[in-house]
Amino acid sequence: MSVQDAYRTGMLSKDSPQERHRLESIQGSVDAVTVDILSALGVRSSRDCLELGAGAGSIAYWLADQCPDGRVVAMDIDTRYLDSGRCANLEIQEADVTDEQYRPGRFDLIHARYLLCHLPGRDAVLARAATWLKPGGWLVVEEPYQLPAETSPFPLVRRLMAAYAHKYAQHGADLVWARSLPHLLARSGLTEVDYRGNLARMGGLGRDRWAPLIKQAGPSLVADGLITEADLAGFFALLADPAFVDIPQVTISAWARRPDGESG
Ligand SMILES: C[S@@+](CC[C@H](N)C(=O)[O-])C[C@H]1O[C@@H](n2cnc3c(N)ncnc32)[C@H](O)[C@@H]1O
Repeated sequence: MSVQDAYRTGMLSKDSPQERHRLESIQGSVDAVTVDILSALGVRSSRDCLELGAGAGSIAYWLADQCPDGRVVAMDIDTRYLDSGRCANLEIQEADVTDEQYRPGRFDLIHARYLLCHLPGRDAVLARAATWLKPGGWLVVEEPYQLPAETSPFPLVRRLMAAYAHKYAQHGADLVWARSLPHLLARSGLTEVDYRGNLARMGGLGRDRWAPLIKQAGPSLVADGLITEADLAGFFALLADPAFVDIPQVTISAWARRPDGESG
């Protein structure tokens, strides 16, 4: 099963009652960093923006609020969590980014988060997205870099995160690809490449962001024999332990812009 299938009908499908909660938990834990990055790049009111793999929509809605005189296209392979009535300047588009061909030079800002690492043709999608930028436009990509599972201080987390990486790799995802982002942006002809990291939190009494993800993916890790039911129960029990706090991954956010003065 490819990751597109996982998102359409598999363990990450929006058919699953947990998926909305997982996406909202992602938004709650990383939107502030994304908004900080986008604000610093300057989101002006007339901007035309593209949100790739828009999920539950928080960043698309934020962009639409910031750009009342522009237009925001929020695309996803499954758009059922996106509300087209939310803003007049918001267009919801159901499409597969690996097939999509936007007009070159169409957007001032393109943002993608936790999307490209899942796609087999990730390098090519990033290079194509760079061509959809207007001169001076920004491409911002944010993806996970999973820290080595075996370096966790918790044997249970070592098993869980190794299983998680294995399952995602089977789906064609690459959880260390994010390290290439600055290079790939530069190689796509973009300039002013920059980046920053955001350390994830597992555990930490009430500040955990991983429980929704493990709740979602856990049963299929057990079904595949990668972890046991006892491991899964042990993880949720650990969340109540004040000494349980770990750093499973870092999100690498990288951005760059199309040189001004290039024709579209
Ligand atoms: C992990 S979620 C991230 C959602 C959102 N970007 C965020 O960070 O809150 C990945 C999203 O990408 C979408 N997706 C997966 N494969 C896709 C594809 N080939 N084309 C477009 N969207 C895709 C999924 O449906 C899902 O909504």
